[in-house]
Amino acid sequence: MKGQVTRDCQPVVRMSSITKHFLDVAANDGIDFNLYPGEICALLGENGAGKTTLMNILFGYYSCDEGEIFIKEQRAYLSSPRDAIALGIGMIHQHFALVPTQTVLENVIIGTDSGRKIFLDLDSARKRLLEIEKRFGLEVDPDAYVWTLSVGEQQKVEILKALYRDVDILIMDEPTAVLTPGEVDDLFSTLKTLVGEGRSVVFISHKLNEVMDISDRIVVLRAGRVVAERRTSETNPKELANLMVGRELAGSVKKKRLDPGPVVLEIQNLHILNDKKIAAVKDLSLMVRSHEILGMAGVSGNGQRELSEVIFGLRKPVRGSIKVNNIALNFGQPSSAIKAKVARIPEDRMDTGLLMDLTVEENLILENHGQPEFQLFGLMKSKKIHGYADALIRAYNIATPGRDAVTKSLSGGNLQKVMLARELAGNPSLIIAAQPTRGLDVGAMEYIHQRLLEERDRGAGILLISEDLDEIFALSDRIVVIYEGKVMGEVAAEEASREQIGLWMSGVTR
Ligand SMILES: Nc1ncnc2c1ncn2[C@@H]1O[C@H](COP(=O)(O)OP(=O)(O)O)[C@@H](O)[C@H]1O
Ligand SMILES: [Mg+2]
Repeated sequence: MKGQVTRDCQPVVRMSSITKHFLDVAANDGIDFNLYPGEICALLGENGAGKTTLMNILFGYYSCDEGEIFIKEQRAYLSSPRDAIALGIGMIHQHFALVPTQTVLENVIIGTDSGRKIFLDLDSARKRLLEIEKRFGLEVDPDAYVWTLSVGEQQKVEILKALYRDVDILIMDEPTAVLTPGEVDDLFSTLKTLVGEGRSVVFISHKLNEVMDISDRIVVLRAGRVVAERRTSETNPKELANLMVGRELAGSVKKKRLDPGPVVLEIQNLHILNDKKIAAVKDLSLMVRSHEILGMAGVSGNGQRELSEVIFGLRKPVRGSIKVNNIALNFGQPSSAIKAKVARIPEDRMDTGLLMDLTVEENLILENHGQPEFQLFGLMKSKKIHGYADALIRAYNIATPGRDAVTKSLSGGNLQKVMLARELAGNPSLIIAAQPTRGLDVGAMEYIHQRLLEERDRGAGILLISEDLDEIFALSDRIVVIYEGKVMGEVAAEEASREQIGLWMSGVTR
C-alpha cells in the first residue's frame, strides 16, 4: 500500500484480514491493522467507517467472520473482554461501565483478585491504586463515590481500572467527546506517559485536529477498509479529511465580515427547571442580532437542552421572557416559535425533529404551511408539493432514492439535511441550531456549516449551541459559554482563545 509506514520492531497486536458483517453491511472488510509498542495510533474515519467494530473485535466483544489476531506474536482467540484483559488489552467505551453507588477504589478492584478478597486486601489495593494514580497523573480520591465525580474524573477511573489490571494495550473510543478542553489536555498527558513506558494506545476519533495533536501514526478507515496509513508528522488535517471522505473537500468554510443588524432574539432572566425539578438554567439573559451567529459553547448537560426546549415551546420556564423580533413567545406552545419564524434544529433529530416513519417528502412539508398532520394527505397528491420536495432534495444534496423513501432509511447526515431543508425553507429570521453536526461526517458537516453561514449572510440571527469548539470557532461572531445553567462569559470571536473558553467551560471565571 502506498504511504505505508514501515517499522523494524514486532507489533504487539497484529490483526490480519479482519472481516465482519452485520446483515448486509460489511462493517470491516479485510482489514489489516498493526499496533506497535510505545505508540499512540489513531484510528480515524467518518461515522460508520468501522472503527468501533474493529476494536470491539480486538477486545473480544464481537467475533469476526474472517481473519486472525496475534497478540505479542501469539495467535489469540478472543471470545470475551475477559480474554482480552487477560492478554493485556483494555478498552474504554464512550459510555462508562462504573457502579455509581460504589467508591472509586471499589470500582477499580471489582472483578480482580483483590476485589474477591476484599477484606484482606483493601489496604494493599488502595496503596497500589494510589501508586498508579501518581505515576500517570490520574488523581482521583479513592474513597469518593463515583456518582459525585465529573465525567472527566469518571473517565480517569475507567483508565485506572484498566491500568490496575496491568493492560499494556489501551483502546479509547472517542474519549474526548465528553471532556472539557482542560480535561482533554490532562488525558493527553496521561496517554503520553503510558506510551513513554512502552505501552500502546489506540485512539479512535473523527476529529482531525485532535488526532494530529496526540498520535504518532494514523490509520484511516473508510467504509470498512483501510484507505491510508500515515506518520502523523508527515500528514496534515486537509489530507486526512480528504482521505476520510474519499474526495476533495472545499476546505474550511470562510466567514465574511458583516455588521450585525437589529436584535432578533432577546432572552431575559430565564429560569428553567429540568425534569428532576432542579434549576437547569439560572437567570440567563442574552441576545442575538440579525447577520450574527452567537455561539454558545459548553459541555452538554449544562442547561443547553432545556434552553432550546423552552425556545421551541416544548417546556415552560419558571420565569423570564423570550422575545423574537420584539414579540414575546408564548411559553409551552411550539406554534408560537413557528409563527415567529424560528427555525428549529434540535439536538436529537431522532426524537424530536423528524417523523421517521413518514416519507422524506412528508417530513419536508411538515409544518411549512402550518397544516395539521391529517390534512397533509389531502395535499400530498398535488404536483406542487412533489416539485417542492424534489427541489429541496436537489438543493440540499440529500442522498435518498426519492421523495417517497421512508425517512428512517436515510443516514444521519442526510437526516440532518432533511431537517435543515425544512427549517430553512421559509427564510427564518432566527435559527436555533443545537448540536447541528453532532455525529456527522466531515462532508456533511462542511455542508451544514456552509448553509448556516449563508443564512447569516442573508440576515438571519443564529444561536448555535454546540460542544464542538472547532465548530464554535469556525462559525461564531460572538461566543458565550454556558456552565451549570449560567453564562460564564462572553467574548467576540476574534478575541476568543481556546484556553479562556476552556476555563469557562469548566466553571472557572477570571
Ligand atoms: N451491532 C451492530 N448491529 C448492526 N450494525 C452495526 C452494529 N455495529 C455497527 N454496525 C454497522 O457497522 C458499520 C460500522 O460501524 P462502527 O464500527 O460503529 O463505525 P464507527 O465506529 O467508525 O463509527 C456501520 O454501518 C454500523 O451501522
Ligand atoms: Mg464508533
